[in-house]
Amino acid sequence: MRRDPKEVRVLVTRKFPERGIDMLKNEGFGVNVWPHERPMTGEEFLKEAKRSTAIFCTLSEKIDRPFLEDCSHIDVISQFGVGYDNIDVMTAGHLGIPVCNTPDVLSDATADVAFGLMINVSRKMFWLHKSIAKGEWKYFRPGSGLGIELRGKMLGVFGMGRIGAEMARRCKSAFGMNIIYHNRKPDKKAEDELEARYVTFDALLEESDVLTLHASLSKDTEGMFDMKAFRRMKKSAIFINTARGLMHNEEDLIRALREGEIWGAGLDVTNPEPMDQNNPLLEMENVAVLPHIGSATEETRNRMSELAASGIIKYYRGEVIDNLVNRRSLDRGR
Ligand code: GLV
Repeated sequence: MRRDPKEVRVLVTRKFPERGIDMLKNEGFGVNVWPHERPMTGEEFLKEAKRSTAIFCTLSEKIDRPFLEDCSHIDVISQFGVGYDNIDVMTAGHLGIPVCNTPDVLSDATADVAFGLMINVSRKMFWLHKSIAKGEWKYFRPGSGLGIELRGKMLGVFGMGRIGAEMARRCKSAFGMNIIYHNRKPDKKAEDELEARYVTFDALLEESDVLTLHASLSKDTEGMFDMKAFRRMKKSAIFINTARGLMHNEEDLIRALREGEIWGAGLDVTNPEPMDQNNPLLEMENVAVLPHIGSATEETRNRMSELAASGIIKYYRGEVIDNLVNRRSLDRGR
């Protein structure tokens, strides 16, 4: 929709990298950046959104049906991030509000974190690092702090999309790992390029030495990794989650690790977030936890900022938005 840039008021909900914000300003838009480190409360968000025509936001902003119905005047929503489970995109579509996100540009950075967590867990690096800080490095101990090797092991990818494929590429080229995966439907490209084998969900649990999550959060995937799933996994398996914490049941994960149902876990996302500092996972030998930093590199965050801004700019120029996530419901709403 074309609009006089002077009429456009973009609510930028966090201090995102300047690049995208400058792009919006250069376009002549009014830009209102929330100046605090903390996210807005629901009330603050609603108040600011009422005075805006577009929203540049991220996963901390809850954009549900009541919010959207109250703010149906919003022209476009651009999410800084690939996941958009914080937004009811279907309702947005029915109200005629396009929603776009920032895929692709963060796949490498996120796969690096999954890969790094896998190596860290397999060699107990976080725990051993902490043991030095506690003064426990007294002498060389040939039989302690032993990890497990990854060469030739089976990588199970839950959600073979762009990030899952990057993780699989890293594991295959670095460690000659074999790849199995489970998706809603088979992915021929991954099968050809990575010699990946499509398996059922149960087979993925049973055969993986390292099980890595890269699917998006939905009603179907929420809570999928619970005690029942952990019990099906190998006792020697490593569980990696860099997707969404709500996909695993954290109480069950703690129990599965304590009871030896699985060997280790690496998490960049937790359930809930942020993780409590007294969470028992933080004291476990074979566990590594990070505070949701998958895309957190200078380069990637700059690219995300540019891409998120370009969605809004394209909308107001009347150009095609490439990363629209609610095309179908938009069409139906029209
Ligand atoms: C981060 O979690 C994202 O979805 O981009």
